[in-house]
Amino acid sequence: MALHTALVTGSARRLGLAIARDLAEAGFTIVLHSRDRVAAEKAAATVGDRCAGIVSGDLTQAFTAKGIVGDALKLTGGHLSLLVNNASAFLRRTPERTTHEDWDLELDLGARAPFFMAQAAHPTLVATKGMVLNISDYSAPEGWPAYTPHSAAKAALENVTRTLAQAWEGRVRVNAISPPTVRLPADLDDGSGPEHQPGAGARHGFIPASAVTSTLLELYMSDRTGEVVRLGTP
Ligand SMILES: NC(=O)c1ccc[n+]([C@@H]2O[C@H](COP(=O)([O-])OP(=O)(O)OC[C@H]3O[C@@H](n4cnc5c(N)ncnc54)[C@H](OP(=O)(O)O)[C@@H]3O)[C@@H](O)[C@H]2O)c1
Repeated sequence: MALHTALVTGSARRLGLAIARDLAEAGFTIVLHSRDRVAAEKAAATVGDRCAGIVSGDLTQAFTAKGIVGDALKLTGGHLSLLVNNASAFLRRTPERTTHEDWDLELDLGARAPFFMAQAAHPTLVATKGMVLNISDYSAPEGWPAYTPHSAAKAALENVTRTLAQAWEGRVRVNAISPPTVRLPADLDDGSGPEHQPGAGARHGFIPASAVTSTLLELYMSDRTGEVVRLGTP
């Protein structure tokens, strides 16, 4: 059985896949998660032998998290030592045009799903002394005017990070990384990504995706918990 096993949500493309590939290179067995089977199979081929398989599920739907984690455990022989909550929405809306549905999507995906994914993974992460890693961004401390529900969801995610870390102190570590704009590996930068908050790159700089994974690995190998690590220029 693999010593280090990671489930990364939203990992068929972009940052999620970059993290999954870096973790595989670091020796992790990887379970990819995506709603898009075709993209996930292509992604799995680039992860290589360390990919244990693919799980699917819409994270905005209640009760999906338990199924996703259960399916991942079937692929890994019951082992999971790292959950990366990477999947996210990034809705650009003026406050005047923001709808109830926008709020539901951002909060469901950005804060509720990571919580229930962590809850579903908790028993296994206790057994492996594992870690939950949530991916946040600078909208949480700053509040980005064109992204009100997104900013609120990331602020909630950081709060969930601190709350779960306290609740599970001594059993499961829970941390977050808040990158500035990420430079993706060339083969993953297909231009399909979300628009970025104007000015965020100028304020906080740009980092390679590999910097997210190296920080993740530092946290994983440490006793640290309840931290939100902001990368780039604060
Ligand atoms: N890109 C950046 O510069 C940057 C900077 C700071 C922080 N971040 C954070 O890093 C993470 C990844 O960023 P990204 O730009 O790579 O993200 P992205 O491309 O916008 O989305 C990541 C994945 O989320 C999944 N997803 C969307 N809706 C979903 C749903 N209803 N259920 C399940 N999965 C769903 C999608 O996977 P499928 O369509 O395959 O299911 C998508 O590939 C996010 O949390 C983002 O906020 C990114």
